[in-house]
Amino acid sequence: MNNLDAIGHVTGKSVYLDDIPVLKNCLNGFVFCSPSAHGTITSLDVSAALSLPGVQKVFTWKDIPGKNDIGGIIPDEMLFAQDEVHFMGQPVALVVANDERTARKAAKLIKIEISELEVITDPRLAREKGLLLIPSRTFRMGDISGAWSGCDHIFEGRVESGAQEHLYIETQGAYAHPSGNGGIKIHSSTQGPTLVQKVAARVLSIPMNHIEVDVTRLGGAFGGKEDQATGVAVMAALAAYMLDRPVKITLHRGDDMRMTGKRHPYSSDVKIGLTKDLRIKAFQAVLYQNGGAAADLSPAIMERTLFHSTNAYFIPNTEVTVHSCKTNLPPNTAFRGFGAPQGMFVIEAAIAMAAREMKVPARLIQQANFLKENDEFQYGQKAKDVNIGKCYAALEKSFDIENIEKEISDFNAKKTIYRKGMAVMPVCFGVSFTNTSMNQARALVHIYQDGSIGISTGAVEMGQGVNTKLIQVAARVFSVSPDRIKIETTNTSRVANTSPTAASSGADLNGNALLIACNKLLERLKSVAAAVVNCSPGEIEIRDEKVFINGTPTEITWEKLVTTAFLGRVSLSEQSHYATPKIWFDKSKEKGQPFAYHVYGTAVIIVRLDCLRGTYKIEKVQMVHDFGNSLNPAIDMGQMEGGIMQGIGWMTMEEVLFNKEGRMLTDSLSTYKVPDIYSAPGELVCQALETEGPEPAIFKSKAIGEPPFMYGIAAFFALQNAVKAFNPEWEPDFDTPLTPEKILMRLYAR
Ligand code: MOS
Repeated sequence: MNNLDAIGHVTGKSVYLDDIPVLKNCLNGFVFCSPSAHGTITSLDVSAALSLPGVQKVFTWKDIPGKNDIGGIIPDEMLFAQDEVHFMGQPVALVVANDERTARKAAKLIKIEISELEVITDPRLAREKGLLLIPSRTFRMGDISGAWSGCDHIFEGRVESGAQEHLYIETQGAYAHPSGNGGIKIHSSTQGPTLVQKVAARVLSIPMNHIEVDVTRLGGAFGGKEDQATGVAVMAALAAYMLDRPVKITLHRGDDMRMTGKRHPYSSDVKIGLTKDLRIKAFQAVLYQNGGAAADLSPAIMERTLFHSTNAYFIPNTEVTVHSCKTNLPPNTAFRGFGAPQGMFVIEAAIAMAAREMKVPARLIQQANFLKENDEFQYGQKAKDVNIGKCYAALEKSFDIENIEKEISDFNAKKTIYRKGMAVMPVCFGVSFTNTSMNQARALVHIYQDGSIGISTGAVEMGQGVNTKLIQVAARVFSVSPDRIKIETTNTSRVANTSPTAASSGADLNGNALLIACNKLLERLKSVAAAVVNCSPGEIEIRDEKVFINGTPTEITWEKLVTTAFLGRVSLSEQSHYATPKIWFDKSKEKGQPFAYHVYGTAVIIVRLDCLRGTYKIEKVQMVHDFGNSLNPAIDMGQMEGGIMQGIGWMTMEEVLFNKEGRMLTDSLSTYKVPDIYSAPGELVCQALETEGPEPAIFKSKAIGEPPFMYGIAAFFALQNAVKAFNPEWEPDFDTPLTPEKILMRLYAR
């Protein structure tokens, strides 16, 4: 089945936040932000802005009826700066005017005086000064201090990975209006409608039941709207509530880039010990997560980094620590992979260090240490249905890795201006929110009298195709045409207490909840049919919109069955609840079983480097991926391609830069480069591993959103190998992104 949004998207008919018709007298908001990255506010004068004709109100922290706190996990982030500012772009005030132009103009008239304080952008420096967002955490297994003596080779090094701008096509925005009886309705471009509802209630000091959050669809999110959509939504709600008028806020691209957090940059120290037979005996790492000025989702991201710090390998002795460091940057946040890519890059860099020194291809070290059935992860979970070895074996066979390696070395031996490089990237990604309590979902299903079906869940469609998958689930259970089914907007009044659509788990959690509701309705309808034809419900089957008794078709159609049920006063609605079974985690011991299952796969990336210019082409990406039993191969392949491209972008060209004053230097599309069609791989081949798929995945179709992102890491190591082939004197370093400029320096480094 095609993505049901495809036609709407290409004809421009899909409704995004900005397409929602606004009510009469709608006002527009513009956010006034801190011009300084760290300081004390000594004066704030909004009077000139307020007196501009068309301006209705300028909101500051003083106008907040409830708490000036929008922190999602811990209460350390203000809606509007109060006494101090902690990053450039931090909201200080909201100008609300009759139109956006006026609001923007008025904001320029706001006078703020700031007594500057020291700006810290380096996470290591922050840690030295004791600036941590939350207490540090360590995962351990075996005996790390005793393990080194048993190692034949020990390597140490430093690893840096850069930030990444989400660059969702649709910028952050919200539209709020009074909805009667003291309530507020917020249309928000958020992955987490319940978070917006909860925080709006806190800020306005009204109960959650007075706030309805509705989401049509997002124009991309990638994690950037999991927590960071909240601020704008709550500002719109505040203004709508206080002024009793509709209010809309849409961030312009540059403002969005300057105000919002990115993927966390990490700076890490790593030590790895191996035996002669390439087995990794010991792995130790200290990671400094650059958290920015507030916690946002950093605690959860730190956790996912720890969970993925040994990637697809079994390492008997480990010790990995993450420090979440407070710096004067916008609060860094969720981004596809959620800290796992940063963790995996560190172990892969350590393996690359070892491979160079031991003069073996990195893939042999990777292969020698793959997880096997029932191996224990650092966090206590036993690995089950381990497919990493199978993925690698299939990759080796299908794409003839050894031969590619030989072709590359022959090519490089010709010593043209080009060099080629390749690298293999295995991935093992845990599926479930690491915070166990978030692994729950609900669905609401109505079958209408005419046989049409309406579905509401907590899933937010952001281009990933979750709505299509949900329709497939219902269509499969009822055995009706997908045309009969409509997905409603994601709405907190219809489905309450939702988890954000994140952690690659949207289809699993909401799909499983939907499955329960549909099955209950199906059983009820079977009983109705059984009563009509006088048999037992067990003999009834509904297939292709018809009722069958013991395999024989009857005259009863789906529509007739539904009408009969309705006239018989049988409920045609169902609300269901799903909680992922068998998962738990004990933070006091840092052990448990946090994941419902793991996604496995392996990719190989081949690059061709122009050694005069430092530019490169990703020639080929080939991978074997464990989709389980894919519910929708077209959608999953789309996620695969997009994920890899985004991962390659993070590793090779997307460079977020801040200067020492904390000013973002790459705040436009002319200074921040994301992959385009010209940087897409010359060839991309994905082979699905033949497997059955795990039970907790919806219809055994494995989660797909995040895992492919990490295949992109191979691009970095492939480029390194190509540089090394040209300049054997170069001492490889590990600092992403490996942009053409950086490559050029390394090609000629002595
Ligand atoms: Mo996702 S990075 O878990 O929104």
